[in-house]
Amino acid sequence: MSLTEAPLHYIKNNFSKFCSDLMEHAKIPSIAFPGFPQGPLEISAQWVKAHMQKIGLENVEILRVGDAPPYVYGEWLHSPDAPTVLLYAHHDVQPPGRDSEWLSPPFSPELRDGRLYGRGVVDDKAGGIMHFAAIEAYLKTLGKLPLNIKFIVEGEEETGSAHLSEFLDKYSEYLRCDVMVLTDTANLQIGLPSITYRLRGIIDAILEVRTLDHPVHSGMWGGPVPDALMALNQILYSLHDENGYLAIPEIISNVPQISDKERGQLKKLPFDSEVFRQELGAVSNIQWIGKKDSSIYERLWCQPSLTVIGVDAPSIQGASNQLVDCVRAKISLRIVSGMDPSFCLEKLCQFLERQTPFNCDVKVTPGACGSPWKVLPDGPAFEAAKKALTKGYDKEPVYIGCGGSIPFVEPLVNKFEKVPALLIGLEDPYCNAHGENESLHLGDWKKGMISAVHLYHELSQISIA
Ligand code: BES
Ligand code: MN
Ligand code: MN
Repeated sequence: MSLTEAPLHYIKNNFSKFCSDLMEHAKIPSIAFPGFPQGPLEISAQWVKAHMQKIGLENVEILRVGDAPPYVYGEWLHSPDAPTVLLYAHHDVQPPGRDSEWLSPPFSPELRDGRLYGRGVVDDKAGGIMHFAAIEAYLKTLGKLPLNIKFIVEGEEETGSAHLSEFLDKYSEYLRCDVMVLTDTANLQIGLPSITYRLRGIIDAILEVRTLDHPVHSGMWGGPVPDALMALNQILYSLHDENGYLAIPEIISNVPQISDKERGQLKKLPFDSEVFRQELGAVSNIQWIGKKDSSIYERLWCQPSLTVIGVDAPSIQGASNQLVDCVRAKISLRIVSGMDPSFCLEKLCQFLERQTPFNCDVKVTPGACGSPWKVLPDGPAFEAAKKALTKGYDKEPVYIGCGGSIPFVEPLVNKFEKVPALLIGLEDPYCNAHGENESLHLGDWKKGMISAVHLYHELSQISIA
């Protein structure tokens, strides 16, 4: 009998139990955003703690720094000659968005057509439960794991991991490992296992534009007097060139060119413009924006992109004939490996401060910084991942970038002299993470669990330096 046979059976025989585990966890509205109650984050952390204990992880603890939402830690360290893997997932979720758009309530997970719908199911509660399932499968059948496991479940990923550096300093010994496995990324297509080798970083700032000290009657004053919203729009307009590519010279001059080799690899990945449009739900004649003559994957993964993620301005309901005195926009900029987050934030703020249409007052408040990350996906850990995914999905993995960010990755990898980080996730083009009707593909989830069982075995075979 092979060393993975019994745990693999266990996964197959207990899959519906794992679904119930996920549904139970996904009922807890563990939203880490300001303005939402903190209670559910505590309940969610307690749920993770109890579950870790139930499956046989040891020294399970809730870890805290300052007033950060709770992290949960558990370990199993009884394979002295094998490597130690650090598993990562997060238990906080995005706010649900518009209730009216959900086909089933966000925190009452529901199964429809092979997918489980609910807030946080794929981002990232399925990531945690997938590894809990694989750990349980080993411990319940063989009584042991083939390697050492440390498992960290973060509670503030979706808000940018504000306490990250404090956390890394305080708990670095909990995190020391030979290899990291993070389950919070996407597969390029359903059924196509994908190893993410680059993440974009992210910075943001709030831009406030003021023209008056109070709103005034637009008929009595309109004409000579500019309104703040039009001034704001002029500033926003200046952020892109005619193709919709970022137009801040000091920032774009720092975007590294990708190598011909990498460009060649991206070209080999499956891409179909019509499918892309359909996955997005884009209107039929929408034009793609960004840097001319570069592929969509290059624009998504290897180039910066700027988005206005929020605006404070009068809403149409209740709009009256006024010239607005003051409006605000939150601007988010994704950056790529080779670009320095604090340098980019400084240049973004300076650029915004220089734009003062009609001599309006402009105030810029710098926000958060998350580092980009990139790795060469070579070496024994990546070989192990490739073997495991090939077995789990019955298909060889592809190597992809990710346009999103996971602030944890870069600082952690660098803390431990560049431990290999395997980013293998469950999101897919139809999962609608962060949007309404977020969902998980259950078929891929099962393949992910099977891959995880193989992965622990494959990683146990690699020699540790
Ligand atoms: N799971 C995502 C990261 C991700 C995004 C993976 C897209 C695959 C595709 C993660 O939870 C996330 O949303 N990260 C935030 C980080 C931010 C708050 C610093 C993001 O990318 O916006
Ligand atoms: Mn996530
Ligand atoms: Mn997310």
